[in-house]
Amino acid sequence: MASIPFTFSDLQTSSSGLRSSPTLLCTPLMGSTVDQMLIDMRKAKEIGADIIEIRLDCLREFNPQQDLGVLIKQSPLPTVVTYRPIREGGQYEGDENRRQDALRLAMQLGANYVDVEFEVAQDFNSSIQGKKPDNFKVIVSSHNFHNTPSAEAIGNLVARIQGTGADIAKIATTALDITDCARIFQITVHSEIPTIGIVMGERGLISRILSPKFGGYLTYGAIEAGAISAPGQPTAKDLLELYNFRLIRPDTKVYGIIGKPVGHSKSPLLFNAAFKSVGLNAVYLHFLVDDVEKFFNTYSAVDFASGCSCTIPHKEAALKCMDEIDPIAKKIGAINNIVRRPDGSLTAFNTDYIGAITAIEDGLRELNGATPATLSPLAGKLFVVLGAGGAGKSLAYGAAQKGARVVVANRTFARAKELAEKVGGKALTLEEVQEFHPEEGMVLANTTSVGMKPKINETPLAKHALKHYCLVFDAIYTPKDTRLLKEARETGAVIVYGTEMLIRQGFEQYKNFTGLPAPEELFRQLMEKHA
Ligand code: ATR
Repeated sequence: MASIPFTFSDLQTSSSGLRSSPTLLCTPLMGSTVDQMLIDMRKAKEIGADIIEIRLDCLREFNPQQDLGVLIKQSPLPTVVTYRPIREGGQYEGDENRRQDALRLAMQLGANYVDVEFEVAQDFNSSIQGKKPDNFKVIVSSHNFHNTPSAEAIGNLVARIQGTGADIAKIATTALDITDCARIFQITVHSEIPTIGIVMGERGLISRILSPKFGGYLTYGAIEAGAISAPGQPTAKDLLELYNFRLIRPDTKVYGIIGKPVGHSKSPLLFNAAFKSVGLNAVYLHFLVDDVEKFFNTYSAVDFASGCSCTIPHKEAALKCMDEIDPIAKKIGAINNIVRRPDGSLTAFNTDYIGAITAIEDGLRELNGATPATLSPLAGKLFVVLGAGGAGKSLAYGAAQKGARVVVANRTFARAKELAEKVGGKALTLEEVQEFHPEEGMVLANTTSVGMKPKINETPLAKHALKHYCLVFDAIYTPKDTRLLKEARETGAVIVYGTEMLIRQGFEQYKNFTGLPAPEELFRQLMEKHA
């Protein structure tokens, strides 16, 4: 028996078929020695996992009689014992009978679960028939490292797994697109037996975090970032602290940031903390989206994609999915904030524009002293925007609206020209802007991705050109202190961080999502702490 009693009564399925108990958090132990696993199991408990998975195939040396007893009896948490063969993504390549003998021994020594692969499940389950201890369950697992089949095919697979005598079905597929997760959600929620539904890979992350929303039996959270047992696995700490995993329920509203790449975004950190601080039943995720139209067509329920932030490269493409667009956002031609109305329709805004422009205005006020409240300190300024994408348009329209004279410089000159014409400004190439200084005291706003992590040594404008600017803003916030901002500071300009735009546009997004005032102080503290 495991040293800590484990009540199974609260793990039963409800009469509707959906489990009434919370989804468990399982931390796989991937240590190569028994001693390492003993250390890691205590760590897993400290982090807040509910169960540990002992991955026997990771052990460099393994003596079943001796080691299983130690691992199971010393575990402070209930145990899943898994001995994964290479063909299913594990490391074991020895004799099959020996492998299954070890799993049977684990059962006898008090493991709470063993995980056996679908192909051998029938035989394995027959071999233990009538010998299963009360508190023991068999997880029958299937791994697909290529794709996520149709909902019908997955449903059939779950039925066949059930047919082997499984207590719990585990389906792990591979996400080629974030919408693949929808099929796993559908199966998990409708499955007759408790089901673990996981879509592996970066595009499958939401399937792991949202297990509790769809009644998944458990989800896996790694002990640390480098110790994942399958592609795309988050850490247990991120599940618990970043995504508020314990607060996710079937009726939790799902928000998120749509982008590609998107993993670097700090928005989930801010919004999840904000939701928690006021007790909102909502979670905010990273949505790694390739095709924004497919995303909104697939996730069309009122409580899914209830609100989305939108970042590179989708700020323009998302426009065509909207039912209604705020007039300023329409003019800019780019959106970064999408709200789903109770009737399911989508309304879009551009809060980048407000966030960036107010931050730059405050920076100029700091430099010039107070200007009359009615007059923007941008009025009459020469305002150079680098980039002509979504963020570039926001800055250019925003500055023009405040009375600035706008210059747009872009790698693709045609895009610069088009935007400049729309805002009544001038267009330059990125080469021309290096020598452009018709006057001193200009304002510079970088909206290109030049200088963003990992290429932090790049900069969009040479240092010698920066001396003509009194204020430099960089929309990039990873890293916070870009090379451009460092060099601008050295030349004496006031600098405005991308984090400031992120924070302020976030205030606006939060207001649009929730109808509540933004927790400004909390957002600022978190940005400071996680800079
Ligand atoms: P966003 O919505 O954040 O503005 P975007 O629409 O993809 O993102 O725009 C990215 C901007 O960065 C564009 O102006 C792009 O220039 P092009 O119009 O020529 O594509 C610019 N950009 C991206 N990578 C760049 C690079 N390596 N050098 C110069 N400009 C770059």
